Amino acid sequence: MKVVTTIEQVRQQVKAWRQAGCSVGLVPTMGYLHEGHQSLMSAAKKDNQKVIVTIFVNPIQFGPSEDLASYPRDLERDKIACEQMGVDLIFCPSASEMYDANFNSYVDVNDLTDALCGKRRLGHFKGVCTVVTKLFNITQPDRAYFGQKDAQQLAVIKRMVDDLNFNVDIIGCPIVREADGLAKSSRNSYLSEVERAAAVCLYQAIECAKDQIKQGEKSVATITQAMHNVIAKQSLAKIDYIEFVDLTTLKAVDSLEQDSLCALAVYIGKTRLIDNFIYQHSGR
Ligand code: PAJ
Repeated sequence: MKVVTTIEQVRQQVKAWRQAGCSVGLVPTMGYLHEGHQSLMSAAKKDNQKVIVTIFVNPIQFGPSEDLASYPRDLERDKIACEQMGVDLIFCPSASEMYDANFNSYVDVNDLTDALCGKRRLGHFKGVCTVVTKLFNITQPDRAYFGQKDAQQLAVIKRMVDDLNFNVDIIGCPIVREADGLAKSSRNSYLSEVERAAAVCLYQAIECAKDQIKQGEKSVATITQAMHNVIAKQSLAKIDYIEFVDLTTLKAVDSLEQDSLCALAVYIGKTRLIDNFIYQHSGR
């Protein structure tokens, strides 16, 4: 496994692989890797002859009051996690390698970013789309792998790739969870022991919603209220949002009559966690 920090080094390596006729899979990450990231690497490994993991805490996707400075980092541990998965190349650039002093171009997807996290984290998806565009241009992959854990991010990137004719297949991968159901996340490392115990309420709310749906409930207001009630039992939890939206347009729905995404963001203490599930409408 090679570890490189410059765009030029990536280009040289990818060129050599291309000349040898190899396919390339890309897994973009911000590091502090866990089994969720590793599941993407494993999917990439199955589909492609070569796998690139990028590790870059992208400053332009963090708002001024967000956790850029404290975002967890451990490159040495990340290298081991990638090596275990048979990754071929890690690209871990500095911020100045990615954004020089004159940097002034951004990629912005409209509409889809008006709901859910986009509404609360202004400019976040512009930062994500810009860095992902740069990473696609630098690595020129056949396929790129993203987690369903960040459902809005996945929807926005798929839109961007379609709209701007990127020559890359976007592969969505299922959410990997802890034994008690908490979705794995680099930000879980912020949680104290009591907060970690409380954090399971996101998953419990999802399970509660799924139960209601199984019993035939279609009203989003009713299901959302039940989810609120589950989370309200945890004194450390504060709901940022719980929303049901159309899976493709991400526009709010008030009754479950189409494929929908239920997404939630909840503060546990100071840590903001997100989770979601997809409701597939059977047409009954
Ligand atoms: P990061 O939060 O490090 O996540 C990298 C990828 O791992 C994303 O596609 C995310 O959805 C996926 N992932 C995280 N937790 C997961 C889990 N529990 N199960 C499955 N997949 C999971 O998302 C980003 O970084 C950045 O925004 C990035 C796309 C790299 C752009 O900077």
